[in-house]
Amino acid sequence: MSSHRQEPVRRVSAPEITARKGKTPIVCLTAYTAPMAELLDPHCDLLLVGDSVGMVVHGLPNTVGVTLEMMILHGQAVMRGSKAAMVVVDMPFGSYEGSAELAYANAARIMKETGAQAVKVEAGSTVVANIDYLVKRGIPVMGHVGLRPQAVLVDGGFKAKGKGLDERQRILEDALATEAAGAFAVVVEGVAEGLAREITLALGVPTIGIGASSGCDGQILVTDDMLGLFDWTPKFVRRYADLRGEIGRAVAAYADDVRARRFPGPAEIYFAKAG
Ligand code: KIV
Repeated sequence: MSSHRQEPVRRVSAPEITARKGKTPIVCLTAYTAPMAELLDPHCDLLLVGDSVGMVVHGLPNTVGVTLEMMILHGQAVMRGSKAAMVVVDMPFGSYEGSAELAYANAARIMKETGAQAVKVEAGSTVVANIDYLVKRGIPVMGHVGLRPQAVLVDGGFKAKGKGLDERQRILEDALATEAAGAFAVVVEGVAEGLAREITLALGVPTIGIGASSGCDGQILVTDDMLGLFDWTPKFVRRYADLRGEIGRAVAAYADDVRARRFPGPAEIYFAKAG
């Protein structure tokens, strides 16, 4: 008997991302909504539901105010919109640092309530024990070293890292400890030239760079940045579109049409049935 049910497309898994180390570059972007996830899915290996959602979508000044509930809602939306890419959800500030048990309870909620394949944590030396605890209990974890946006209040701003020798060594050690704790890949953000390459050579798992040079195993950008939705983007972003200009032009044209009573026209209204 034949079934009309479509075979589900299998998503990229954490071991498949790890196996890409040193092979073809891993393509990653952030996603926060179902329609955007649908557009990105055919082109990306991995979609990150980043806590950057707090700044990009909710207008927060940084990621510190992002909640677990926000991450779960956006994670669910991205899962609904995508079908093949691996989906990784960021653990927000305060949800994983305090203890391994706290990290596990919150990571398990993300996994169960979104169906995502992994979580990401900003990995300083103090949280590697929590990464180990999660991985040993079945939760794939992606690390994040270098510029750690959740540390913005301690750092006094979003500042590139690894310009001095001591800091370079500390970041390299963070990355090595994150891998030793069982992370399947490590995001390297905002580090001085050369350091990302050094980390990439030192690790057996892939590095995913953002503002970290081409010396990584993959790249990630905030999608809204690369699509040109903001009037300012950091130096490391390449703008592949000018959606801010496009949206401005489209909305101005709509406003002109409404004011001149050109919209709606005959093609855009319903007519009653004759007779
Ligand atoms: O939150 C985020 O979007 C991220 C990327 C910048 C890597 O962590």
